[in-house]
Amino acid sequence: MHHAPAKIILFGEHAVVYGQPAIAVPFTALQATADSEPTPPGTGLTIIASDLQQQLHIKDADTMLDNALLRSAQLTLNKLNVPTPDLNITVRSTIPLASGLGSGAAVSAALIRELSAAVGCPLEGDELNALVFEVEKMHHGTPSGIDNTVIVKGAPVYFIKGQPPQTFDIGAPLTFVIADSGIQASTRESVGAVRELYDNDPDTYQGFFEEIGAIVNEARGHIEHGNLNDIGHLMNRNHHLLNILTVSSPLLNTLVSTARETGALGAKLSGGGRGGNVIALVEPDNAHWVADAFREAGAVRTWVTTVGKS
Ligand code: PMV
Repeated sequence: MHHAPAKIILFGEHAVVYGQPAIAVPFTALQATADSEPTPPGTGLTIIASDLQQQLHIKDADTMLDNALLRSAQLTLNKLNVPTPDLNITVRSTIPLASGLGSGAAVSAALIRELSAAVGCPLEGDELNALVFEVEKMHHGTPSGIDNTVIVKGAPVYFIKGQPPQTFDIGAPLTFVIADSGIQASTRESVGAVRELYDNDPDTYQGFFEEIGAIVNEARGHIEHGNLNDIGHLMNRNHHLLNILTVSSPLLNTLVSTARETGALGAKLSGGGRGGNVIALVEPDNAHWVADAFREAGAVRTWVTTVGKS
């Protein structure tokens, strides 16, 4: 059995598509898993996506060009240059779909790990990352690569598109409450909307992206030094700029202000936006209050996670 975690973007989504840095961490409480069992000779490869009630056979790969699971399998077999194995692979995931938690990248990573191991050539690191990135293009159009990178690496990353990801120290544990707005939103659409704004007024939007990039760099320093209040303040500023980029929504804004009113050190949307999730940095003792307030304000689910636990 192989797996891959969900992820949250702490700072820099959207601007990262335009070459600015971003910071993301794995969220290990939610996972995609893939498990395989051999089948009789000649039966070929079947992928069973039990949560989606889907059963896919690799021979359909040429007709179902938009299926991310088949594409993951096909890319893996082509990369390894091996014949299609006789195998059933069952894929499961506890990561909500289209919620900015990286479900697509995690499912691909788990599936490619399991399939490549089953044929005796386990893929990891840069090779795995490159394949998951290819599949991400189906979901996102022009992904920056941050989702696949943090999910494959399974560690916090400071990421700039096209550059090797950097790891960094976390000076003090960071406790986040994550709220799922319950609204599924397409990252492809929110990225496309920002692209349109940028194309119509490149100077202004380049300025916003650079402001976000400066926030990310400042945040990295404060994360390394464990300055929680400063990190929270920068989350608020990052959210404000995401709102200007039109990727927030009335519900996300309500969740963000609710968290702040309940004593969170800072809050922002995380990921593609317009739905998906909001994250709040909290003192650990305050986590359950913020989680309760999130649900009262309309969140359908909440989680608490601590990053950089010793
Ligand atoms: O997959 P999501 O919804 O977490 O969004 C990814 C982050 C974006 O910056 C909006 C897009 C990208 O490719 O980096």
